[in-house]
Amino acid sequence: MNQDLITPRLKLRAPEPDDAPRLQALCGNWEVARMLEVVPHPYPDGLAETWIEGLAVRRQSDTAHIFAITLAEELIGVIGLERGDDGPFGLGYWLGEAWWGRGYMSEAATRVIHFAFEDLGAEKLTSGFFADNPASGRVLKKCGFRIARYGTLPCRARGKEVEAVFMELAPGGLT
Ligand SMILES: CC(C)(COP(=O)(O)OP(=O)(O)OC[C@H]1O[C@@H](n2cnc3c(N)ncnc32)[C@H](O)[C@@H]1OP(=O)(O)O)[C@@H](O)C(=O)NCCC(=O)NCCS
Repeated sequence: MNQDLITPRLKLRAPEPDDAPRLQALCGNWEVARMLEVVPHPYPDGLAETWIEGLAVRRQSDTAHIFAITLAEELIGVIGLERGDDGPFGLGYWLGEAWWGRGYMSEAATRVIHFAFEDLGAEKLTSGFFADNPASGRVLKKCGFRIARYGTLPCRARGKEVEAVFMELAPGGLT
């Protein structure tokens, strides 16, 4: 079980099997899925359950540390760190559309970044966002990320490569 991370308004905790229907409903929203790399649209039945089931093994192997973002005990999004066997962790996240624009993701991301550097001993974090997603770029910039390069990333929901901005953060850049 990963530790809970607490922020002024949010609790970040390990996703649980019971979260699956809500996760599918929120992340099944086209406005969310189209900004993510690997989430299919429509979101198939059973995928959320399988994804949640696999998280414990990925946490144990130190390749993924994923948190449900909860507000008053209600799941409103997901945030996490993922990597290949020995690469840097990449920060990824999404929030249900009803909760956008209130600073929640900046609050959650700041906490997870501190967790990465202070608890996991990360030396660098990476992230990225599609060029047509300035809100995500703003979240990363507010957290201290800097642009590393421009390129493209595949977007599964859109079924094509999309222009993207790749970002990096070293501990010294923490805000
Ligand atoms: C991107 C996302 C996580 C942002 O979450 P959020 O809680 O609304 O973000 P915050 O409120 O913490 O910060 C958003 C910032 O972007 C700014 N912003 C919002 N829309 C913007 C736009 N169209 N252009 C520029 N800035 C914008 C906000 O003003 C805010 O900046 P500020 O605090 O300086 O005013 C959320 O919209 C989301 O989940 N989208 C769908 C999935 C997704 O994009 N995931 C990230 C993939 S890289």
